[in-house]
Order: sequence, then structure tokens, then C-alpha cells
Amino acid sequence: MARFTLPRDIYHGKGSLEALKSFKGKKAIICVGGGSMKRFGFLDKAEGYLKEAGMEVKIFDGIEPDPSVETVMRGAEAMIEFQPDWIVAIGGGSPIDAAKAMWIKYEYPDCTFEDMCKVFGIPELRKKAHFCAVSSTSGTATEVTAFSIITDYSKGIKYPIADFEITPDVAIVDPELAETMPQKLVAHTGMDALTHAVEAYVSTANCDYTDPLAIHAIEMIQNDLVASYNGDMGARDRMHNAQCLAGMAFSNALLGIVHSMAHKTGAAFADFGAHIIHGAANAMYLPKVIAFNAKDETAKKRYGVIADYMGIADKNASDDDKVKALIAFVRKMCDDLRIPHCIKQYGADSYPCENGFVPENVFLERLPEIAKNAIGDACTGSNPRQPSVEEMEKLLKCCYYDTEVDF
Ligand SMILES: [Fe+2]
Repeated sequence: MARFTLPRDIYHGKGSLEALKSFKGKKAIICVGGGSMKRFGFLDKAEGYLKEAGMEVKIFDGIEPDPSVETVMRGAEAMIEFQPDWIVAIGGGSPIDAAKAMWIKYEYPDCTFEDMCKVFGIPELRKKAHFCAVSSTSGTATEVTAFSIITDYSKGIKYPIADFEITPDVAIVDPELAETMPQKLVAHTGMDALTHAVEAYVSTANCDYTDPLAIHAIEMIQNDLVASYNGDMGARDRMHNAQCLAGMAFSNALLGIVHSMAHKTGAAFADFGAHIIHGAANAMYLPKVIAFNAKDETAKKRYGVIADYMGIADKNASDDDKVKALIAFVRKMCDDLRIPHCIKQYGADSYPCENGFVPENVFLERLPEIAKNAIGDACTGSNPRQPSVEEMEKLLKCCYYDTEVDF
């Protein structure tokens, strides 16, 4: 038996934020990040719409990028005090992810962070509140997914929380919010979305319900991401839908080891002054993982199908050549979006540079631990080819040096 779960309602298109007016409830807490939603007026609008719906509204703001366990606990305390029956999270992946974890703690105050991290082990929610996610970035698609990523800074590790219980009840995909994204964010979140669609398509949990979503998302991203990055607002609007389709696919088909590695390298070098931003990490690792997974015959065929849909290789070409074309396509996209090809060239500002912020000796020293953690990541199980710890180390080295994957 397989399960396919999405929010009950997805409001999309310009002005769909207004759907908040139709919500039924007494109290809503709005969870929001650092200030861009306030600055662009969307926070005020959301608050106004909820008040129009007759609700008392409280705002929990200041959720940081890559939200911490501490922030989750603080937000949950605010919810326990206010007792909302709607949680409305507005912003990029971070405030929405944080709010999902707060929701669990609000409904189950005794639930620890360790409890939350047990994959598909969340108790039944919606006894106290329903959840609406309004996304302002075009990438994580957390507004429709069963996932949340929370960082434990004491360990330097990002933990995914995974359960259909935290799939939001309502998603609002209003492209007006995405139009405010700075260019670098467009690049990173867009490549995150592409990675979601590609990993979902070759995942061992792919199915007839997820395949069309993944393939259509890939085609849309191929057509629109670079144009969106270069300021085409029509393309930006379409990317907001594309990333959401990719999200619907991967929330149900799961992901693979591009994400396992991105999760485990993201905060691993934070003591050197920067994060490897999630979408950029995916963009760098995706070509390496395609080469690694293509040693699996089924995965190779499916990469071939992706290349066919994209029209980037001759239909009669061999699957090996189609895989090569797909890898070349992803690398060209990185160039177009100013994303480096490897960690060694990843600057503290995320742009390509001669010597990145992660020193070689530090990388090598931490490699065994990172590889072990990546193998244990929740996304590894659905990857089409299961790497050994040794292979994971080799793969991570290829991601550091941008060397060819020949194993
Ligand atoms: Fe992602």
C-alpha cells in the first residue's frame, strides 16, 4: 500500500493570500521570519485578512534562517500561552519549517525534539490547531510537504522531521510574495526545486501519482528558472508553481542522497563563518549523484526519460549519453546562476571563488563523520542506489574537488 497526501486546499495565483479571509476560527498565530514580509506589506495584509475573518491575531516573528531547536521551543511556548486554532506561517522555508515543529510541540508539550525526529512517528495533530503555509520563496515547497528541517547547532547538524501529520491543511502559493525574492535566493531555491523533482523521479518510492508532477516541474524549471533569475517576473510567477509541483512529488516520492549530503554538510563548517546554503549544496552535488546513481540500470533509464522530456539529447541516443546530457545541463545551469561546482570553490558569500571558505584539511578531517551522518539521513533510504560509507566518502570528495564519479 502506498499513500499520497497533499494539503486539502491549495490556493494559487496572484492575490491568493486573500483566501485567509475565508478561514474559520477564533485565534490565529502568524509565524514569520526576519522582516521582508513585513517590509513588503504582506504581514499586514495577512493580519488584516485574518481579522476580517473575525479572528484574534498574534504575531510570532524573528524566526531565523535555518531555524534552531531553541526557536522552535520558544514559538511553541508562545502558542501554548495564546492557544490558537490556526497557525499561519508566512515566508521562506525557514519560518514555515519552524512553525511545523512548533505545532507538534504545541499539540504535545511533552514531545521532545528527539521524539519529533523519529521518521513518520508524529502523533495525530489537529486536535488544537490547523496549519496554513504561505510561501514567499520558490524552492523548498514546504507549504505542501510532510517535512521540516530544524538545525541542532550544538551538533552542527540539520535534522529532517518527516510525517504526513505535518503536511499543512492549506497552502497559499501567491506569486506576488515570490516577486520580492533577491536574485541569489532565486538561484538557490530554484536549484533546490530542480533537485526535488529529479530526486523524486528516480526515488525508489516514485509512483504514477508523483511522476507527472516531477516531470512537469522539471520542464517548467528548465524553461523558467534562468529567466526568473534574470528578472523576468512572468517566469518568476511560473517558478512559484513549478517548485510547488516538485514539492507535491517529493513529499510523496521522497528524495535521495543529494539531500542527505546537503543536510549533513550544510552546517558542518558553520564555525568557519558560513553555511553551505541548501539549494547551492544541492546544485553542486546533483551532477555527482546522477553519475553515481546511473550505475543502477533503473535509475539510468529514468534519467534518460527526464532527458527525453527536456529535449536535451537525441531520442535515439544511449541512456549513458542521455545521463551525460543531463549532467551537462545541470552544470550549465549552475554557471548561469553563479553557483560553484564544488565545495572547494564555494565562497563564504556562496559565489564561485578560487579558495572557498571550507579549508581542505578541515574537510578531510570531518569527512568520515559527515559521510556516516549522510548515510544515516532520512533521505538515503529512498535513493535508487545504496552507497556504502566508503562510497559516500568518495562521493563527498568528488563534491569537494569537482572530480569525476567513476565508481
Ligand atoms: Fe531541498
